[in-house]
Amino acid sequence: MKKMYCFNRNKKIISILSLLLCICMLLTSCGKEQKQTVQQEEKPSDNLLIGLCFDSFLIERWQRDCDVFVSSVKEQDPEAEVNVQNANGDIETQKSQIRYLIEKGADVLVIVCIDSDGLGDVMNEAKNAGIPVIAYDRLINNSNVDLYISFNNERVGTLMGQALVNSGLENNNVLMLSGPTEDSNVAWVEKGFRKVMEDNSVTIKDCYHAPGWRSEQAAEYLGNHIEELDDVDAIMCGNDDIATTVFRTLSERRLAGKIKTVGQDADLEACQRVVEGTQVMTVYKPVEKLAQNAAEFAIILGNNKKQEISEPLENVKDTIYDGTFDVPYFYIDPVAVNKDNIDDTIIASGFHTHDEVYLYENE
Ligand code: BGC
Repeated sequence: MKKMYCFNRNKKIISILSLLLCICMLLTSCGKEQKQTVQQEEKPSDNLLIGLCFDSFLIERWQRDCDVFVSSVKEQDPEAEVNVQNANGDIETQKSQIRYLIEKGADVLVIVCIDSDGLGDVMNEAKNAGIPVIAYDRLINNSNVDLYISFNNERVGTLMGQALVNSGLENNNVLMLSGPTEDSNVAWVEKGFRKVMEDNSVTIKDCYHAPGWRSEQAAEYLGNHIEELDDVDAIMCGNDDIATTVFRTLSERRLAGKIKTVGQDADLEACQRVVEGTQVMTVYKPVEKLAQNAAEFAIILGNNKKQEISEPLENVKDTIYDGTFDVPYFYIDPVAVNKDNIDDTIIASGFHTHDEVYLYENE
């Protein structure tokens, strides 16, 4: 009996040991496979390498820009590699990421710059290495980039201004809570907005620039100036993220809806406020279109570099002045979104679904 028990015990130990051995073998073979993949990646290949550099992913839209860009590249060239970098809002990090991509032998760089004036040196380094550069959404100044692809940013400001004027401004006073001056788009949006205000004799009481697009800074500014809001009819918010914190600050003081707001990006929360009537409008910028076009241009420019040819990009007829050079400029028109057309724009395009936007109806 005892022997039998012992025999069974040995059998159990043997099966446990063999199971462990199998697990070990399996694990080592995965490790080997991983090692092989790493080796394969390190091997110089003929595949197109696109460097895609982001400021950060804090604002809702950028993840969509990134996803659409990468999938568009993969659709057109499944072998191509897109190396995505995120600088988390730090210009020095962005510079070193660009340098890393130059060293890695990128065929083309697509950059959402943090500071339009802050990349001069690295842009020269890219030029010297013969790597074409696409400035994505934000212009890189004085750098003679190969392409600037964006929306018509002046038009963004014009649409914001027109929406406020059309909504009726009692005292003809507005406040601007904009993005940082380091972002070249900010000046363009302001230009469009200020022109409409001027044409309609609306006074801009103050203009604050939130550093690094940090909306909490805009909210803090607002909190510190709340007493001065008495005769302010509306706040132009540099984007919907700022509009969201402004809305919260105003709500705490029971001023939401009383003081009108506009923003840009068609962030989900902003769209919800538009249908609820607590935000007059948002500017919809179809980022899918932007990212798809940018992907196409990146493939063309990257392949041009490989074949050592320099052909002008077809479909790019406009130019924009970067402070020193006139650079090729491809732009997409933005769309003003309000309560009346949100179904035909945001929902019809699939940017957000009906259920997401009309959240309050489902509650
Ligand atoms: C873009 C906006 C965005 C902002 C903050 C601007 O350059 O044009 O769409 O909201 O940056 O990321």
